[in-house]
Amino acid sequence: MSLNKILLVDDNNGQRITLESILKRSGYSVVSADCGMAALAAAKENDFAAALLDIKMPDITGIDVLKELKSKRPEMTVIMMTGFAETNYAIDALNLGASAYVLKPANIEQIKCLLNQAIEHQRILEENRAMSAALREWNTTLEEKVKARTGQLATAHRHTLTLYEELKKNFESTMEVLAIAIDQRDPLTYSHSFRMTQYAQEIGKTMGLESNDLEKLRYAGLMHDLGKIEIEEEILTKEGSLTSSEYQEIQSHARGTYTLLSKFVFKAGLADIPLIASSHHERFDGKGYPRGLKGDEIPLLGRILAVADVLDAITSKRHYRTAMSMADALSIMKRESGGQFDPECVKALFKMGVSNFVSIHMADHLEKCDPEPLIEMDPFTLDDLDAACQTQEPTSAQFSLVQNFYRYYQGPVPTTYTGKITPAPQFSPEPPQPNC
Ligand SMILES: [Fe+2]
Repeated sequence: MSLNKILLVDDNNGQRITLESILKRSGYSVVSADCGMAALAAAKENDFAAALLDIKMPDITGIDVLKELKSKRPEMTVIMMTGFAETNYAIDALNLGASAYVLKPANIEQIKCLLNQAIEHQRILEENRAMSAALREWNTTLEEKVKARTGQLATAHRHTLTLYEELKKNFESTMEVLAIAIDQRDPLTYSHSFRMTQYAQEIGKTMGLESNDLEKLRYAGLMHDLGKIEIEEEILTKEGSLTSSEYQEIQSHARGTYTLLSKFVFKAGLADIPLIASSHHERFDGKGYPRGLKGDEIPLLGRILAVADVLDAITSKRHYRTAMSMADALSIMKRESGGQFDPECVKALFKMGVSNFVSIHMADHLEKCDPEPLIEMDPFTLDDLDAACQTQEPTSAQFSLVQNFYRYYQGPVPTTYTGKITPAPQFSPEPPQPNC
């Protein structure tokens, strides 16, 4: 649109020619018409910024022309030109959308002022239209860019998650294979690291550990005896008691675990695994090794591992003894609360379900056992089992519990039950398979 293009409509030739001439000299581009129909024809072919409309004309009135112009282009500025006697028509025209009216004969300065306002109005409308179009285009482009970028980020995120899961699986299988390598050095300790880790997990869950701590506990449990790789096999598998120097060499495995694990690159949040794993022989009373740490100085996860390690050791067969009676094993665990062990960890241990204990203790042979007794023991904890083992006069529920327990447990039957229940069949240890 040419912003200064004006439609001038007046059937009075003299007045129209004079006004057209003045407006053109003032810089406006003027198309003039001498009747209403000619005006509408001109409006079809041109985009006018404004129209100056006479009201009274021979064919159709200025009001009719106004209606038509406004129906086609509502934003067009229309200025009515009226004689004094036509003022009422002018008011109608304003109601129909005319911007102003001027009395004839025309006051040129007034008309120029109104036309300039109209042109400025059109210029602002044009600018707004251009800005809106640009904004719409920019929004569309932006939306497309955001959509494309979001898609790229989602793909990258999925890719990262997959890579992370693969790395985690690789890391876990490395830990499991190493744990097997450690345990296989001695046929009697097959699966020790796996069972100990699972007991530790049970205790940790009861103590309300977060998932990151449970993950650390799992890796530290699997690796707790890594230092034994450096111990001579004759000493590890020696029947009977050890000499003082042999005992010292065995003890050195805890520090060996720390040294070897420190060579691993653990992800952020798992960096204290070497310290945790090597703390499994520390004692709550400070008399343990390798550092002689005491109470809270020992990492909590290390204190949990200490309980789980001894629990598995005394409930399994060793070169120097058979598996302990469960009554004796649980007595030792309780007696050492506050001595060898953190009392809170022992408390959590005794909340472990008997079925859970049996499932871990018998993990390598469970498929050979009848599952019924396991289900019947489900409501009972190690606390209940301890009470049932210690009593001289068991209730029928306690008798059933001990009877069911010894369908699986491969240690001596408590004296109260000797001859009254059948001990579990003996299974020879078998190497565990990694979950990978
Ligand atoms: Fe150990």
